[in-house]
Amino acid sequence: MEPLRRTRDWMWDRLSLGPVAAQLAHKTVPVHRYSVFYYLGGMTLFFFLVQIATGILLMLYYRPSAENAFESVQFLMTSVPFGWLIRSIHSWSANLMILTAFVHLATVFFAKAYRPPREATWVTGCVALFLALAFGFSGYLLPWNQLSFFATKVGTEIAGVVPGIGPWMLRFLRGGDRVTGATLSRFYGWHVAILPAITTIVLGLHVLLVQLHGMSVPPTLEEEAKRRRPMRFLPHYALRDLFGWLLALGVLAALAALFPWELGEKANPFAPAYADIKPEWYFMFMFQTLKKVPGGQFLGIEYEVFPILLFGLAGLVLLLVPFLDRNVTRKGRSRGFTAAGVLVLIYMVGMTAWGYRSLTPVWVVVTTLALIGLFAFVVRHREVVEREERP
Ligand code: HEM
Repeated sequence: MEPLRRTRDWMWDRLSLGPVAAQLAHKTVPVHRYSVFYYLGGMTLFFFLVQIATGILLMLYYRPSAENAFESVQFLMTSVPFGWLIRSIHSWSANLMILTAFVHLATVFFAKAYRPPREATWVTGCVALFLALAFGFSGYLLPWNQLSFFATKVGTEIAGVVPGIGPWMLRFLRGGDRVTGATLSRFYGWHVAILPAITTIVLGLHVLLVQLHGMSVPPTLEEEAKRRRPMRFLPHYALRDLFGWLLALGVLAALAALFPWELGEKANPFAPAYADIKPEWYFMFMFQTLKKVPGGQFLGIEYEVFPILLFGLAGLVLLLVPFLDRNVTRKGRSRGFTAAGVLVLIYMVGMTAWGYRSLTPVWVVVTTLALIGLFAFVVRHREVVEREERP
């Protein structure tokens, strides 16, 4: 045991871990009826780490060319031991990461956690979400199957419609005029090198800012949080965080094993356009909106350009929420932003359900809320606090 202890002390000393340990020992987390929402960012982070681990394993077999990509994934799924499981975990975890990131965004939005001094935490989180969506878009094409090929064709076409920069964006994304092997290599580069590097930096900054500022309390619950003793991060909150990761792992493992990710047919660029082109579910609300726009022009501009510009503007507004919502700083509340948030959520879920012609998106929302409720019940903050308060 002595060599182990000495190695630990050596590392502790050389890495100057003393101040970090002291910070963690004093760190507390506010306790109120919505404290459960503090676990969602951690769960999102967990899925991101799963993505890195499984993505590296997939890279060992994947070959990024139009001739070999599909076959390499097929080989991985049929001949490599547990290859199908690693691929299934990677695909499911990507979707769960985006789902938890959306729920995390919604909770910090409604809790007004973007109030000063957390503007930068919000902005870095928002950028991380956009990067996660870019991961999804670039990863979708990699198996080079019919569905992903035609969805990428349509997706990049939409980018090409933007006035002015559209044609340039289309060529930039595709690496030429058409979706070809050049597009695949380009998407692969983004997916395994550029995006992971930027995302790691952005998420590192995001989590660092959370550590520096601590967790915020929603304005309406400040009195309640003052009455209740905050929970110590070590060990109470950290153990609950770990339990959240375990729950996330359970959901992920069940989905990946019971519903293995399918591969479909190899892309055939000369086949007639695929009848039922579907983007990833998180782009469905935009896709469905565009599908419902009638053909025609206004002042020489195609009708579909307007919703595309509107979605771009909405992304910018989302990024700038902390700077636009001035009421929340002055009055501690901002009903207008809350109402707008509810309407946007209803629109997104409604359009997604319409796009799929199914109520599944509504059930996903209900199940997610039920799981969060169950988690809140299991981690019961109140009991530990009462026990701690006893002399
Ligand atoms: C995409 C990946 C993301 C990861 C891995 C992540 C991770 C985290 C973690 C671990 C925390 C601390 C615990 C918690 O509050 O849940 C946190 C807090 C926070 N996040 Fe994120 N986050 C992500 C996306 C976002 C997004 C999209 C936003 C909003 C646009 C956001 C805004 C915030 C804010 C404002 C806080 C502070 C909450 C408070 O003080 O009450 N994050 N994030």
